[in-house]
Amino acid sequence: YLNYRVPRTRRDIFQTLIKGLQRLEYRGYDSAGVAVDGSGKDHAASISLYKKTGKVKALDEEIYKNNGIDFEAELDTHFGIAHTRWATHGEPSPVNSHPHRSDKNNEFVVIHNGIITNYKELRKYLVSKGYEFESETDTEVIPKLIKYLYDNRENEYVSFSTLVERVIKQLEGAFALVFKSIHFPGEAVATRSVRAMVSLKLAIIEHTNKVIYLEDDDVAVVMEGKLYVHRIKRKAGEDPVRVIQTLQMELQQIMKGNFKAFMQKEIFEQPESVVNTMRGRICFDSNTVILGGLSDHLKEIKRCRRLILIGCGTSYHAGVATRQILEELTELPVMIELASDFLDRITPVFRDDVCFFISQSGETADTLMALRYCKQRGALTVGVTNTVGSSICRETDCGVHINAGPEVGVASTKAYTSQFVSLIMFALMLSEDRLSMQQRRLEIINGLKKLPELIKEVLALDDQIKSIADELHHQRSLLVMGRGYNYATCLEGALKIKEITYMHSEGIMAGELKHGPLALIDKHMPVIMIIMRDACYKKCHNALQQITARQGRPIILCCQDDPEISKMAYKTIELPQTVDCLQGILSVIPLQLISFHLAVLRGYDVDCPRNLAKSVTVE
Ligand code: F6R
Repeated sequence: YLNYRVPRTRRDIFQTLIKGLQRLEYRGYDSAGVAVDGSGKDHAASISLYKKTGKVKALDEEIYKNNGIDFEAELDTHFGIAHTRWATHGEPSPVNSHPHRSDKNNEFVVIHNGIITNYKELRKYLVSKGYEFESETDTEVIPKLIKYLYDNRENEYVSFSTLVERVIKQLEGAFALVFKSIHFPGEAVATRSVRAMVSLKLAIIEHTNKVIYLEDDDVAVVMEGKLYVHRIKRKAGEDPVRVIQTLQMELQQIMKGNFKAFMQKEIFEQPESVVNTMRGRICFDSNTVILGGLSDHLKEIKRCRRLILIGCGTSYHAGVATRQILEELTELPVMIELASDFLDRITPVFRDDVCFFISQSGETADTLMALRYCKQRGALTVGVTNTVGSSICRETDCGVHINAGPEVGVASTKAYTSQFVSLIMFALMLSEDRLSMQQRRLEIINGLKKLPELIKEVLALDDQIKSIADELHHQRSLLVMGRGYNYATCLEGALKIKEITYMHSEGIMAGELKHGPLALIDKHMPVIMIIMRDACYKKCHNALQQITARQGRPIILCCQDDPEISKMAYKTIELPQTVDCLQGILSVIPLQLISFHLAVLRGYDVDCPRNLAKSVTVE
């Protein structure tokens, strides 16, 4: 953080950094660390470094435990770096947390996001030169290496940024790095390669809304309150200028308000977030849909031979949820792919494919790798993201911003429904000139218009849903079953349940019931079934009979006034009916709510589930 006017005291600097980290905590939170200049009026150049496992709060307490430090001292330099870590190499522990240091004097400290793939070779080399390693991480080779290069600079003057450039020439992998050094007080150097420095937004928004996004191989130097950016490898014709961009984010958007958790707030925001997704894109008078970000490529998209939808987790489920209507309206083959599996299979991709990359954060490593893979093979790439300026946004040929607003809870909720709506809008836009589709399009557009009101109706069932959670929260397992348009809801509901309540949960395709899952059913196994009035209604009814015949006691999500279903249910949650292909937007909400209540009742931190991070930037 650069702030050369305020703050002035060491306490101010720590507080600014800690508060920033707390805003980022939802992204990765098994440990945290901070390093600030220690060079006050009466200090020789030094760096104060603190690291701690657990919450940022623990780090904050750790800092103030240090009685020897004068927190009110005014510092000549106002510079600190801070990091929250989500363990990949090495368990969460203070030594494994960032910033990593070159030696006990903290001559160089480094923060790293990403992976150094050749760290074993580098470590071996540095150990042979007498460097002692204290952690198990790949990152630690970086501060050691920069110190090695500094110590061996042979009487020449080497600037901080030149040293950093020399370091990164030796590194293989993907990384975003920030360096500080006691040899260059008040200065910091940052760089990236195949890795974005992202999501600082939430941490800095209360200080500034101006940001510059670094490209791969940019080196940014902050010195005496000024920022310099240059490129390591400048290619001919490349624009070296990095534009200052303005973040569209208000502080209140990232405050919890009266809600217990961000996740709860985000569930309740859905009547507005879906409107924001549709705003300015659907004309309800003329029944037209225009996604501005795709207009330039519309012809190409219409000529393509198939659509491939790629994502991970919840974003993948948004693809599953909309596949059927995409197939119906576009009459194209539609493949839905988990990014990791898509890459594992070295899936054939062609120039006339259109590949969608669905990602809330726009930074998910697997999805980003899949994007680069498809680009190399000449396919048209389309981003569906919630984060303007994210890597996926910038690297795709065109895209749709889902405009759901910042999503802070690790469990994705409003992003899912907005991705859902965005993909439906895409299907509507593509089928605009098909005469035979007009009736269907009209029905869907009218459904979208009424959607926010219907979402409110579903949210009003919160108390009833909470009482169901009350009954279920001691259970170990929870099955969620359905088919057709609502199969995605089962997968998504089960994912929400497992990730925040730690209960075992499975989304089951009701059509597969007798091929295996039926064996799980007895009077003890809690089952949620989704049975809506659509083309699969009868088949779902059959599945229901099979469940009740085995003494199963299903809780059923069904349409309002369906006595046929109600009489066979242990409990029902009755939802307003909408167009079949939009029903999944309504049916997922009770499952979002149930997982939230279960997690609270089981005593877990809803926004920060163990072992998970909001943005998964490692493969
Ligand atoms: C689940 C969840 C994850 C993400 C997944 C992809 O609640 O949030 O499954 O959906 O990690 O993340 P994005 O959408 O940022 O690519």
